[in-house]
Amino acid sequence: MIRVVILISGRGSNMASLLAAVEAGDLPARIVGVLANRADAAGLASARASGVPTGVVDHRQYASRDAFDTAMAAAIDGFAPDLVVLAGFMRILGEAFVRHYQGRLINIHPSLLPAFPGLHTHRRALAEGVRVHGCTVHFVTADLDHGPIIVQAAVPVVDGDDEATLAARVLAQEHRVYPLAVRWFAESRLRLGDGRVLLDAAQDATGALIVPHAAGV
Ligand code: GRF
Repeated sequence: MIRVVILISGRGSNMASLLAAVEAGDLPARIVGVLANRADAAGLASARASGVPTGVVDHRQYASRDAFDTAMAAAIDGFAPDLVVLAGFMRILGEAFVRHYQGRLINIHPSLLPAFPGLHTHRRALAEGVRVHGCTVHFVTADLDHGPIIVQAAVPVVDGDDEATLAARVLAQEHRVYPLAVRWFAESRLRLGDGRVLLDAAQDATGALIVPHAAGV
């Protein structure tokens, strides 16, 4: 079973969806540690409640981004992970860090990349009037919110949506696609090859989920 470390900064609902998938037997992986850059990240408590070791590397204690990255990498490597999963981790990671974890560092972003990298994706999607929005799981590269795309889920934007309703619709899909992507990695069906995602073309291994509105939130 692969060893997974999850990095969070806040609520940790994506982390919780991964822990739930493991507990349900749907994800052949061990979540060996959860690390946060803030001691008040709410997700730390739920990780501990699930018996997962946690740690905090507080970015405010480091004079430079590099120093923080180095300390975070040391904490991560202490768990000897096969895969590092960013789940609402709100720090930009430097080139050396990203290189160190190349091919074993993934992120989830609440938009259909390359649209809307960065913050406030739902607000910006509404302001642009897009009709389709969603989320993306991707391998992390040195470019913020870029990197080879593993799986995307698309949801409609409907009349009357506000930031909260749209965020909830997207989040429900985040909680589906992140465990799926980690499962593919755990099953050795997913890897990063020469800047592109290589995904075993078995029946359910399609990197696109189109979610009709009737399907839920
Ligand atoms: C999610 O929308 C994720 O896509 C983004 O930050 C949010 C984190 O939510 N990167 P949570 O902490 O997983 O609940």
